[in-house]
Amino acid sequence: MCGIVGYIGNKEAFPILISGLKRLEYRGYDSAGVALLNGKTRIYKCKGKVSDLEEYVSDKDCSGTIGMGHTRWATHGEPNDINAHPHASMQGTFVVIHNGIIENYSRLKKRLEDRGYTFHSETDTEVLANLIEYIYLKGQVSAEIAVRLALTKVVGAYGILVACQEEQDVMFAARKGSPLVVGVGNGEFFFASDATPIVEHTNRVIYLNDDDVAIVRRDEITLKTVLNVPLTPVIQNLDIEIGEIEKSGFDHFMLKEIFEQSRSIEDTFRGRISHDRTQINLGGLYDVWPTLMQARRILIVGCGTSWHAGLVGEYLLEEFSRIPVEVEYASEFRYRNPIIYKDDVVIAISQSGETADTLAAIRLAKENGALVIGICNVVGSSIPRETNAGVYTHAGPEIGVASTKAFTAQVTVLAMIAIELGHKRKALSDEDYALLIQNLVEIPGKIQKILSHNDEIKEIASIYKDSHNFLYLGRGYFFPVALEGALKLKEISYIHAEGYPAAEMKHGPIALIDEQMPVVVIAAKDKSYEKIVSNIQEVKARKGIVIALVSEGDTIIHDMADHVMEIPLADEALAPLLAVIPLQLLSYHIAVMRGCNVDQPRNLAKSVTVE
Ligand code: G6P
Repeated sequence: MCGIVGYIGNKEAFPILISGLKRLEYRGYDSAGVALLNGKTRIYKCKGKVSDLEEYVSDKDCSGTIGMGHTRWATHGEPNDINAHPHASMQGTFVVIHNGIIENYSRLKKRLEDRGYTFHSETDTEVLANLIEYIYLKGQVSAEIAVRLALTKVVGAYGILVACQEEQDVMFAARKGSPLVVGVGNGEFFFASDATPIVEHTNRVIYLNDDDVAIVRRDEITLKTVLNVPLTPVIQNLDIEIGEIEKSGFDHFMLKEIFEQSRSIEDTFRGRISHDRTQINLGGLYDVWPTLMQARRILIVGCGTSWHAGLVGEYLLEEFSRIPVEVEYASEFRYRNPIIYKDDVVIAISQSGETADTLAAIRLAKENGALVIGICNVVGSSIPRETNAGVYTHAGPEIGVASTKAFTAQVTVLAMIAIELGHKRKALSDEDYALLIQNLVEIPGKIQKILSHNDEIKEIASIYKDSHNFLYLGRGYFFPVALEGALKLKEISYIHAEGYPAAEMKHGPIALIDEQMPVVVIAAKDKSYEKIVSNIQEVKARKGIVIALVSEGDTIIHDMADHVMEIPLADEALAPLLAVIPLQLLSYHIAVMRGCNVDQPRNLAKSVTVE
């Protein structure tokens, strides 16, 4: 979604804002802008990328030691120069950048229009800027009071920065439902919608909570609620290194993140699997094991790739713990009046920890008395702060919009929970428990091996890069992998792709198969191997092109398929961690060959903080 950066200090703000906006580019956006304060307020904004903005301001005055920058992902009003942020109030007293959606904006706008306000943009943000100004001028109050009062009138979600032309020594930051982080420097403060733009300046941060308002001067920060209740700012240390958010020699973040997966999975189980590889310790669940062990049902909620990880989790948890599991799109769960029992356990999966629907689903689950566990990647994000317990995936910052290493890290956490829960519930023998842990520990080495076949996968990509459709088939544990493979291709190459359970193919997708249709079949050795061989024959009988993902040493499918990609043998429950890697690479290469913007695919956002 939209990205926010801000600065107040003694340095020139503009370079800090631009480099911050570039760090946020991965979130996806359609326009960008900055406001700089230096006696008078200057706003520069345009449709397009941060580089377009840089070009646009190249002959303009960008001085000022207070400023804010924004990348916008359109919600109200099409992406254009006027709707881009920052937005100034009608008389120029206030300038605002905003993430989120103000739901009652049309009512507020009408009231302001009745009082003589006119609007240039179609955005809800301009309404907020004018509302603050109206209260400020009409009520003859301070900027702080105007900001807080205005926010009490707002229904919806916001993460905002506000500056006032008349009080140029202060910046206001406020949050409700849309994340905002304040970086604490020496005589300076940084603001951002996530920590990535802040890392290069300071590792001391304050995460704002809902309804917090920060009143920030160069040398002090005051925190209070919207209703003026004083709060004590809690400074936390960031544990991200700058190298983690750079491309490190790879052409794209996505490729870097695909290649990081053997390391990131190790980071996910580091300290959680004992040195002698005989035990799993998940500190974040320590207090909730008794509840988890007695759960009537486990409900998993998530969106996008995280939902796919949840599907793998369903198979893992049911197989090992014998507790019934349901997986739901968070957006469906929250709106369909679901039955939630007090002895249900809800697992919310989210890379960003900020997805609005997932956040709303966990709030609903908590209201109904269920225990909520989070599996998130971004430390300090909203979901881990609202769940009763949780496990961080520790995959490191994921910048590519298409999720890769977050998926394998999520599946790794789910596998650890399932194996531990199964063992604790005595559904899994000591022997199987030890064997599974051993298998899990071997996964990173096997991923290395798969990555060494990158060139062969690239070769297959070059043959099918111009296809219009792809079908992905898998059974059992490989069905969610088929869904994820298809999603990766759609997201970044804009080729239509469908993932399907292989056995269901004959109930519909088989009608699509002809000599133009590449069918990616995940056919690694598992208990339904024979069945998937039959499915491959069904595709071949209709002249479909089969790209098969097989286990090393497979000869049967080698002879039937048009192309094969190999993965090392592994326990089938853990094999999704391997099978997804060639599919990620296949999508990546196809997208690059088609000239697509791999790291920032059109219309997509990394962190979806609106419903
Ligand atoms: C967006 C991203 C996806 C991601 C999904 C859920 O659509 O582009 O990559 O899977 O949101 O995000 P989350 O942060 O909750 O995992």
